[in-house]
Amino acid sequence: DKGGWSSFMAKEISEEPDAVANTIRGRVEGGQVVIPELAGLDELFVDINRIVIIACGTAAYAGTVGTYAIERWAGIPVTVELSHEFRYRDPVIDARTLVISVSQSGETMDTLMAVRFASESGAKTLSICNTQGATIARESDAVVYTHAGPEVAVASTKAFTAQITALYLFGLHLARVRGTQTPEFLASQVEELQAVPDKIASILGASEKIAQLAHWMADSRAVLFLGRHVGYPIALEGALKLKELAYIHAEGFAGGELKHGPIALIEPGQPVFVVVPSPRGSAILHPKVISTIEEIRARGARVIAIAEQGDAAVLPSADEVIPIPLAGPLFEPLLAVIPLHIFAMELATAKGLDVDQPRNLAKSVTVE
Ligand code: M6R
Repeated sequence: DKGGWSSFMAKEISEEPDAVANTIRGRVEGGQVVIPELAGLDELFVDINRIVIIACGTAAYAGTVGTYAIERWAGIPVTVELSHEFRYRDPVIDARTLVISVSQSGETMDTLMAVRFASESGAKTLSICNTQGATIARESDAVVYTHAGPEVAVASTKAFTAQITALYLFGLHLARVRGTQTPEFLASQVEELQAVPDKIASILGASEKIAQLAHWMADSRAVLFLGRHVGYPIALEGALKLKELAYIHAEGFAGGELKHGPIALIEPGQPVFVVVPSPRGSAILHPKVISTIEEIRARGARVIAIAEQGDAAVLPSADEVIPIPLAGPLFEPLLAVIPLHIFAMELATAKGLDVDQPRNLAKSVTVE
């Protein structure tokens, strides 16, 4: 039931604040993250020496966001890998490796095969899953469910924000158990996370401008997305959503990579979304991203910046600015992705396409 919305995707985007809030619920005690499902695993979490996150598509981008936060908080090496690539090379993993799979459906065959392979190799497995009792959840040593509710639209939206939330909760839980951060610092991060749902709601309330932009851009042949740090996987997510829903060639790049090749693509009129980190939270990266914007605009790009409200440097340099509320650097991706979800949906709608069921795609990919 679409509950009065024009599509399941529109309904599910509107549920992103609840998906985050419901995923946090029951997992914070006295200002610290305590995930009940992970009780009894403290010894394991102290013993592991590395984490590998495996997933496909959007879930892999959530995993990439997770790597930045878990490494920062828990001081343990974390890498992310596409399940199908991980499975068929010869990854070096052992009993001190924790392999975290991220999957909305819990039935993605590529990820399931990678989880089985990890178990057979002696690694410990943790599943971040949205579907109760799914195969991947059942076959893992432990599960942390995202509570995004059922996701019907093929394009993943609320499951993505819930996956990042679950990975952050895990990172904060791990940091507490491993004693890598002070309780005060961890409590400040928990507060930041708890503030996210209201901030997402405020972006949803101001989505008219994004819809307008999407309508203006409905004839674009290609759209580029740039981001750095946690903004990089958000750029990749923005590009994937546009490909799958609007059938527009879209690419996401790490901002620092531009001069190593992709800048050759910039020609007059080329639309480029840029995820701008906060000037307060990212004193080093912010000016670098602003100079990237200036460089591509000098070559004629049309820049749409997603930036912190009131960022004075971005206003004169971008063509359009989509403001997002103030948040700590690691929490910005949960906000910056919302306009990109809306943009892809609106652009597909403007082209008269079926946003819930794009061509050639299945909600759950149960073949390798
Ligand atoms: O069910 P899963 O999270 O394992 O699915 C993984 C991908 O197939 C999925 O995220 C896909 O990329 C979406 N269609 C993206 O919107």
